[in-house]
Amino acid sequence: MLEKIKQTSDWLIQHINRRPRVAIILGSGLGKLSDEIEAREVIPYSDIPGFPVSTVEGHAGELIIGRLGGQDVLAMNGRFHFYEGYPMQDVTFPIRVFHAIGITTLLVSNAAGGTNPAFHIGDLMLIIDHINMMPEHPLRGRNLPMGPRFPDMTHAYSPRLNRKTREIALDNDILLREGIYLGTQGPTYETPAEYRMFRLLGADAVGMSTVPEIIVANHCGMECMGISVITNVSQTGNKVTHDEVKLAADQAQPRMSTIFREIIRTL
Ligand code: HPA
Repeated sequence: MLEKIKQTSDWLIQHINRRPRVAIILGSGLGKLSDEIEAREVIPYSDIPGFPVSTVEGHAGELIIGRLGGQDVLAMNGRFHFYEGYPMQDVTFPIRVFHAIGITTLLVSNAAGGTNPAFHIGDLMLIIDHINMMPEHPLRGRNLPMGPRFPDMTHAYSPRLNRKTREIALDNDILLREGIYLGTQGPTYETPAEYRMFRLLGADAVGMSTVPEIIVANHCGMECMGISVITNVSQTGNKVTHDEVKLAADQAQPRMSTIFREIIRTL
């Protein structure tokens, strides 16, 4: 694994002209942020040795390197989900590579179903903590030397970045909820009983990503921030469709982009 990470990171360093310290995972609600990245180089995942290739409809698969918010940034347009069949090592491989090329801050977005009854479709939720309900742990197996065997997860989502994010939301008149993100394997959305169970467990939102990447980023010592777009809410009892999830995520794009651009400016 170490050899593979080194091969991919050496290749990337040779093929990019910048040395970003900030990486963004452009999940649902942030795809268009990639258009705002200036002077960019775009590298399809399929060109990167060792990189898995993204499959799911509506998720591109490319790295974008350029300028945003006055900084060099590296953006992942399209992520690898466990439900697509990738082993956890592949889901989180990009994070290992990012660490190896010098990334110290990871910003992520995702779509999630709201289990907090106060949430509305289209709300943004700052992820202040998570509950890992995925069936396999990304750090299972021999410990890689970029972090401890038993990593602390007290500040998995950086209180410092969270404070900055709240301020930015306030300054830009963006309503920003906060809560606990529960990560499941998917690909089914939850049954009404499961949404109720996750609520009882303390979740404000449920989704199928982010948790593995945040765990590995913490293992590598990165500072992390994440925001969910609430694309559906459980208490209505209505059916959940991928189309409505995409629509709500699209409508959140301008607000999400503002927050991400502005937080990068402060880093
Ligand atoms: N559950 C899991 N993942 C999701 C949901 C949901 O309700 N909405 C968007 N992604």
